[in-house]
Amino acid sequence: MAARTLASAPRHIATAACIRAGHVARARCLVASATATSQQTSVISSVPAGLAELLQSGSKLTTAAKTAWTQFLRPGDTVVDATCGNGHDTLFLAQAVGPSGHVIAFDIQEAAISATRQRLEASLPPGRLPRLELHAACHSRLQELAGSGVARLVVFNLGYLPGADKSLITSTATTSAALEAALEVVEPGGLISILCYVGHPGGMEEYNAVRQICAELKPAYWATSETRLLNRPTAPVLVLLWRCSEPFFGRRS
Ligand SMILES: C[S@@+](CC[C@H](N)C(=O)[O-])C[C@H]1O[C@@H](n2cnc3c(N)ncnc32)[C@H](O)[C@@H]1O
Repeated sequence: MAARTLASAPRHIATAACIRAGHVARARCLVASATATSQQTSVISSVPAGLAELLQSGSKLTTAAKTAWTQFLRPGDTVVDATCGNGHDTLFLAQAVGPSGHVIAFDIQEAAISATRQRLEASLPPGRLPRLELHAACHSRLQELAGSGVARLVVFNLGYLPGADKSLITSTATTSAALEAALEVVEPGGLISILCYVGHPGGMEEYNAVRQICAELKPAYWATSETRLLNRPTAPVLVLLWRCSEPFFGRRS
């Protein structure tokens, strides 16, 4: 079994993924090496695609998030980046939805909005650019500015920009309001992806608020999950919320 074989690798990274959908709860624990040696590569090739990428990336959950986005997005989709920062994630999303797509991005910093525009315009020729809508605004205004049921994917990369002013950071109150708004903005069948950073002051409180909102969602309409590295307690946590395209059969709440 892949998990057993991976346990013999020299450096150990533990990854746990729990999927909670109403009364159905599943948890998996896999142990793997952070370094992809040839022996490990052959082991990794036998595990599911998304997990293999996670292991080969050195267990970066930013990579796991992008794998999930790629699996969800189709050319022409509308996508929201709720914290665009320097535009790295926005560019990735723009490439995924292509020129027929629509990218809506938010950041409270004017400089971040400019950096995002510049990155996209420098990286993609005009014919490859999706429709771009960049808002220098708090993401708590997401529904007001993006509309309801419009986005295939809404992504949040919480916290602050590395190397920038750490006081310009997401906060529990506005992140909670923005997530409540995102629940309305995402279309049926769509996904909300949140990377929560728990290692800085206020980060754990913000993450707990995200979890609380997830825990209260009706399981007939939402499936929620979190992925975290159990042996790196301050590493980011990836929270995914999938809005079901129709109520799960047989569930009443
Ligand atoms: C971790 S960085 C995002 C990194 C970005 N996704 C990238 O690829 O470069 C978090 C960003 O959230 C922004 N931010 C903080 N509070 C916000 C709010 N209330 N609404 C929108 N953006 C916010 C910060 O200005 C910062 O640029």
